[in-house]
Amino acid sequence: MKNAELINQAKAAMKNAYVPYSRFKVGAALLTMGNKVFTGSNIENASYGLTVCAERVAIFKAVSEGELKFKMMVIVTNSSKIAMPCGACLQVIAEFAPKLELILATTKGKYIKRKLSGLLPEAFTL
Ligand code: THU
Repeated sequence: MKNAELINQAKAAMKNAYVPYSRFKVGAALLTMGNKVFTGSNIENASYGLTVCAERVAIFKAVSEGELKFKMMVIVTNSSKIAMPCGACLQVIAEFAPKLELILATTKGKYIKRKLSGLLPEAFTL
């Protein structure tokens, strides 16, 4: 799976973002070790705190389908500025993939690569 292909899948998922409150669209594409892709978009709620980020939608879709090993996630937003994943999503990603590679992208072709371990070096564990 090429990075460009995964970025395109994240962009496609972003189109399904349900964002009547913030208008801030996020799409995620999560690549498993077995090369399957699970996508997610952010889903907002009138009770704002119930909003779920795109990253967690993708992770939960994959885990609920029995997938537990991940190698990369692309996160794309409709902002001209690259957005980093929120702290809650970093902790959820760390549960399953502490060594995950992340690509943070804009729709205009700009992207940076980061490692989960760099963004959350000391995640909470039990
Ligand atoms: N959001 C994500 O989908 N992922 C993040 O990592 C940060 C924020 C969403 C939540 C909300 O729908 C919108 O972006 C603005 O906060």
